[in-house]
Amino acid sequence: MLVLCSLLILIARTIPWILNPSVILTKERVQKEVPTVKPIGLIVSESNEKDEQESRITTEGSSTLQTIIVVTPTYKRLTRVADFTRLANTLSHLSNLYWIVIEDGPETVPVVQKMLERTNLNFTYMAHPSPPNYPNRGWYQRTMALKYIRENYTNFMRSQNGVVYFGDDDNSYDLRLFEEYIRKVNKIGMWGVGHVAGSLVESPRVSNQKVVGFDAEWSPDRYFAIDMAGFALGLQLILESDAVFRSSCPSGTGALESCLLTDLGLNREDVEPFGFEKENEREVLVWHTKTLIPDIYEFRPSAWNWLFPKPPKTNGYFVEY
Ligand SMILES: *[C@@H]1O[C@H](CO)[C@@H](O)[C@H](O)[C@H]1NC(C)=O
Ligand SMILES: *[C@@H]1O[C@H](CO)[C@@H](O)[C@H](O)[C@H]1NC(C)=O
Repeated sequence: MLVLCSLLILIARTIPWILNPSVILTKERVQKEVPTVKPIGLIVSESNEKDEQESRITTEGSSTLQTIIVVTPTYKRLTRVADFTRLANTLSHLSNLYWIVIEDGPETVPVVQKMLERTNLNFTYMAHPSPPNYPNRGWYQRTMALKYIRENYTNFMRSQNGVVYFGDDDNSYDLRLFEEYIRKVNKIGMWGVGHVAGSLVESPRVSNQKVVGFDAEWSPDRYFAIDMAGFALGLQLILESDAVFRSSCPSGTGALESCLLTDLGLNREDVEPFGFEKENEREVLVWHTKTLIPDIYEFRPSAWNWLFPKPPKTNGYFVEY
């Protein structure tokens, strides 16, 4: 009975391919396109009026405000538009900010482009699909962003007075992280990150305003046991080096942060810690949150869905899935 059932399912699954061999061809073509490393979509906005910019600067003198360059890799998934909306809303509150968004895919996606335009921020949106030797999403995209900054920073910066921050699209950010910490970083600044890698808070251990170690649950022996969200780098430091994220980092036991920072020639003594004034009641200003993948009934695995795949109902709305 079971054997007969499996046989029937197998036959039913192969019928569309026999009737329409182009299904197979399309699949092969898609697979060949993915490893392309050249940027296919590259959009630089430069639409903002000067007086609009001036009205956005509310704190301090505009000339002394360091520009924050936020680097955000992103990719198509069920929760991307929701995640990205939150981050776009957060960054919209900030002035003197340049946003570099890198799509992990063969081309840029119009819904993301439109979200970026609605922020009124200056931004670059480009597509760089991950090559096969990169085990995790985002690694290659951040590398391409570093190269973009080195080659093109004069197009969007008036000076080298800037800070680079790797801000993923699913984290949660307090605005004070940008104004009180990131904006003030010279060479490298660090702070605690909430809900990361098995810790309530993963943070540098600070003594006499120097980083002497790290308090982390996961792999605490890393030289820099810190998540991407827990540091920002001076633009000059990045311009003086050609270090990028590697495709692996054994000394980081699977995390890339430690290798990038040591490749940039940094020591623990170089780190400026932020948010350690108080002994207790220190505040977390960034959380490594993860959006729960919603349980969509139509996506639940069933023999019926597998046998007769059809596009899910979206009621006329644009939905990424
Ligand atoms: C965007 O860039 C232009 C040209 O460099 C600049 O004049 C403008 O102030 C920038 N706008 C914002 C919101 O940063
Ligand atoms: C620098 O900008 C140009 C023009 O937008 C682009 O073609 C080039 O790929 C960029 N460089 C990098 C390394 O991304």
